[in-house]
Order: sequence, then structure tokens, then C-alpha cells
Amino acid sequence: MSKQNQVTLEKIVSLCKRRGLVYPSAEIYGGINGVYDFGHLGTLIKRNIRNAWLKSLQKSFEDILFFEGSLLAPSPVWEASGHVQNFSDPMVDCLNCKHRFRADELDLKKPCPNCGQTKWTEVRQFNLMFQTNVGAIQDKSSIAYLRPETAQAIFINFKNIISTNRVKIPFGVSQIGKAFRNEITPKQFLFRSREFEQMEIEWFCNPENAINDFNLWCKARKEFYASLGLNMNKIRLREHGKDELAHYSISCTDVEYEFPFGWKEIEGIANRGNYDLTQHSKHSGKDLGVFDEETKQSYIPHVIECSVGSDRLFLTILCDAYTEDLIDSEERIVLKLSPEIAPIKAAFLPLVKKLNEPMYKIYQDIRLLGYEIEFDESGSIGKRYRRQDEIGTPLCFTYDFESINDNCVTVRHRDTTNQERISIDKIKEYLKNSLK
Ligand code: GAP
Repeated sequence: MSKQNQVTLEKIVSLCKRRGLVYPSAEIYGGINGVYDFGHLGTLIKRNIRNAWLKSLQKSFEDILFFEGSLLAPSPVWEASGHVQNFSDPMVDCLNCKHRFRADELDLKKPCPNCGQTKWTEVRQFNLMFQTNVGAIQDKSSIAYLRPETAQAIFINFKNIISTNRVKIPFGVSQIGKAFRNEITPKQFLFRSREFEQMEIEWFCNPENAINDFNLWCKARKEFYASLGLNMNKIRLREHGKDELAHYSISCTDVEYEFPFGWKEIEGIANRGNYDLTQHSKHSGKDLGVFDEETKQSYIPHVIECSVGSDRLFLTILCDAYTEDLIDSEERIVLKLSPEIAPIKAAFLPLVKKLNEPMYKIYQDIRLLGYEIEFDESGSIGKRYRRQDEIGTPLCFTYDFESINDNCVTVRHRDTTNQERISIDKIKEYLKNSLK
């Protein structure tokens, strides 16, 4: 008998704190709004998300290069990219309680959600980039910004990349790294934070193939979410209306997920046309066009971009995996993560402390194969199973008094809690097959 309960953001936040996945940043100093730290298990999940993303790119297309750009770039880069002029959200303040809101998320005819008054300031544009100065002299020439998207570093290196790698159009450049946005209202935990990580692929193609390649990428990205084991009834692709497009986009399709707080974007697939390379050509004075030897064509490549936040995807995966059910009339919380994403692949549990030694030997033997596994000896076996369920460990191996005689252990499966007995000699093979 099993009962499904509704997942809420509060439950996810609480699980993340309780099990050390995510902590509010600078908590002992009162915290910093919209910034988070990842603990041991959270870091492992993030690493698995990155690896799954990289694997999915390699599966989708040939000729994908890696790149790691700097986080800081001087003002001219962001003037050329249009971020200084356009990367802003409309902001409004309540004149009574001084609370600040995003104007596009409020009906200004309605009372302030915080104090109930209806007196607003004018709507102003608020630029989301974090500005700083580089070097000892603080004047206009030293202004730099923390990147609000990882992509620009790829565009400004386009000539370097194409001249130092054996690639021809079409090819992609992928990058995983931090981005920073001074969001007016960071909210919904990791969904909208001020410091976050993006996983982006910039696909450079012949303008004539841009629409076709855009469609291929949309298909590939949907397959990626299916490969993570997400409930595909909660995934949809939604095309942007003209009024929603970012300043650099010709067209854009969002991959959306149905969160406990509604359908929201998890990834943007954008046809950026030749906007970025043209802008950087103009502003830097360097030609960022290509010459195709085969067709004898000169052109500025078009760019198809797929951009997903790994923290937002982390939240998506947790919301999707979080399950409450009843096992033998006892409530439990279980994270039904795919084995690829689960932070710990298997736990090795002696039934009682007296049996630690033989189980510890088995654990050490498997650990050397490179699996992320845990040995846990403390607390009742039931409590240890519950902990592993909550952190999404697919398999628990238990060594009991029978093991001494039959050279077998019990394997317990997270989702069903079904148990079976296997020979200790078969554990490696069993793990390998289960984690495929
Ligand atoms: N280079 C394109 C770009 O940055 P975007 O739609 O602004 O496009 C892409 O961002 C993805 O980055 C989003 O789909 C989301 O997953 C993630 N993202 C954007 N802002 C975020 C924030 N404040 N907190 C967490 N993730 C964010």
C-alpha cells in the first residue's frame, strides 16, 4: 500500500538542509539573500548533473569543444553584447513599506502584497549585472562586470577557438560555469538566485541551416530530460512570444517543468542569429566572419544556444524525485533519483556492529572501483534505510548473521524496498548492471 503526498518547496528546502545538500550562504552571519552553498551530497549531485549534461551533448552532435571563460569581463564587452543597455528588469517600490518588487510580476492597481497600501513609485529599469572596478584606480575605464551569462566569453574568443582547433562550421562550444545576476526578487530557493551555474552550448552554424539545427537541438534537449528519468508529463516546450524575446534572440523555445509553484522555464533554446558575433566584430574592429572553402561563401555564423541553470535543474530533479509513501504502515520520504544522478550509488550496512569487520572489507573492495558508496554502521537498520532513502541511494547491501554461513548479502531496492539475496562474489557485477 502506498500513498502519494504532494511535494512542496518547503519540503524540498527542509530535506536539503536536514541532509546537508544545500545551505543558505553565510548563515552564521545572518545569510545573504539569493546565494547558496552546496554540501557534500549536494556537490555530488551537481557533479552528476554536469556529467550527464556533457554526456548528452556528446551523444547529440559531433564536434563539441570545451571552454572555460573568465567570470569578469571589462565594460566594452557588455556594451557590445547589449547587456549594459538592455539587461534589466522593471522595478517598483511600495511608497509605504519600501518593499521592492519586479513590476512585471505585479498588478500595480492591486494593493502591495506586503503592507496592503496602493502607493507606488514610478517603474524604473534596474540593470541586473554586478558592477566592479578592476585595479587600484576606480574610474570609468576600470569598470568591469561579473558575467550574467557564460556565453559572451565564447563569442569574444570565437577567432581564437576556430584558429586553434580543427573544426569547421557547424560546431559547438560548451561551457559550465558561474553566472551572476542581481535579481530584484530572488525567490523559490535555487530557482532564482543571484549566483548560479549555467551549462551552455553555443552551436555555430551556416545561416541557411539555423532553423533546421534549432529544431534538432530542441529534440535533443527533450531527450536529455527523458534520460534523467524526469516525469515527461511535467516537461513541455514553449515558444516565446515576440514580446518575451531577449534583446539578442530571433526566436526562443523554453523547456518548462511543472514545479510545485507552476510551469517554469528550466532551459532556454535560442536562435541568437549572428547578433553576438556581429556586435563584437563592430565594437572590437576584428572580423569574426568565416570563409567556407567548399561553398566559397563568406558569412558570420549563426548561433543556436541551449542554456540551462544547473542549480535550477538540481531543484527540478529534487522536486521530481521527492516522494512520500507508506511502507508497512510507516511513512517514509524517498528521493527516486536516477542512479546516474544519485549522490551515493550504494550503502554497505552491517546488520549490527558486531558484523562491521567483514562488511567493511567488502565496502573497501568496492570503493576502490571508484563508485561513490557509503559504509554506515550507526543506528538501527531501519533508520539507516530511511536515511539512504531520503538521499536517494538506489541500493543497500546488508551483511547479517546468515552471511557468515552462506557468503551472501541482502540487496534492498530503494523504490520498492524489495529485498533479495545475492552472493558476495556477485556484488560488483550486480552494481555494474544496476547503475547502467
Ligand atoms: N545565455 C542565455 C541565458 O543566459 P537565460 O534564459 O537568461 O538565458 C538561461 O538563462 C538559464 O539559466 C535559465 O533557463 C535558468 O535555468 C538559468 N537561470 C537564469 N537566471 C537564473 C537565476 N537567477 N537563478 C538560477 N538559474 C537561473
